[in-house]
Amino acid sequence: MSGGCKIPTLQLLPTIPELRQHRRSIDRPIALVPTMGALHEGHLRLVEEAKRLSDEVWVSIFVNPAQFGPKEDLAKYPRPIEDDLAACERLGVTAVFNPEPGEVYPPETIPVLLDVPSLSGEFEGAHRPGHFVGVCRVVLKLFNLCQPRYACFGQKDYQQLRVIEAMVGDLNLPIAVQRVATTREADGLAMSSRNRYLGEEERKQAAGLYKALQLAKQLIEDDGETDPPIIERVMEQALVAHKIEPDYCAVRHPETLARLDMVRQPVVALIAGRLGGVRLLDNLII
Ligand code: PAJ
Repeated sequence: MSGGCKIPTLQLLPTIPELRQHRRSIDRPIALVPTMGALHEGHLRLVEEAKRLSDEVWVSIFVNPAQFGPKEDLAKYPRPIEDDLAACERLGVTAVFNPEPGEVYPPETIPVLLDVPSLSGEFEGAHRPGHFVGVCRVVLKLFNLCQPRYACFGQKDYQQLRVIEAMVGDLNLPIAVQRVATTREADGLAMSSRNRYLGEEERKQAAGLYKALQLAKQLIEDDGETDPPIIERVMEQALVAHKIEPDYCAVRHPETLARLDMVRQPVVALIAGRLGGVRLLDNLII
């Protein structure tokens, strides 16, 4: 083969010393995509967005124990690391940080806990106590270790996105958070690593979350409905009609997630429900 064509090679960084050493050799801005692996189309869109921002794209693959509750799916969370690395290589990712839990949380560590109480108290935070404290802790660690200029997060996890944006803002982190739109299946179901837990019949019903969000959008945009409780009730009924047990359906301020007396400006509709043993969430800016 003739020379001159530079193919970027993927650097695998399983330990913090290796990551730090490699980081010192990089002087162009890094675009980081934090993940827990089991990469699907939604994650890959984040990588593509990162590539648009920089040629230096780093992906972290770490199933973060600190953000799982004691009764959650930490042990059974999928870890197809070979497939994930192949996908990263295919997309031209330049480095993957995939540490063991003991590397990130050595037993001698004295934990520091960060919280964004006004954003994290309800919804996923209420359902999963300590979840966002665990997310903030690992994301700040990843930011400090990788020192990225950009970090990409999906709108799929809207409350998480707002919590991280608030942390970056309030703590003056020199990082631009890039929001990436939710990637969906053909029927509207938001892609998620947990969709693989759905049975065939449940998979069909799962599109009900997106249908409920679309109903809220129609109510607001076409019918001029401005009363949040009315919109929330319609979303809830739509979930029930799809055999999804509602967990929450809420119309909120898109930045503060605060309750609204009236819909007068863009809002975020947040929705979560249970289908079989699987809990699904979605949202839409309207
Ligand atoms: P994980 O669930 O693996 O998601 C990694 C990133 O991919 C998050 O920013 C998430 O919002 C985004 N994402 C997932 N599904 C998406 C979809 N269908 N469309 C667009 N983006 C999608 O979120 C986490 O991991 C963790 O909490 C993490 C931030 C890595 C901290 O441990």
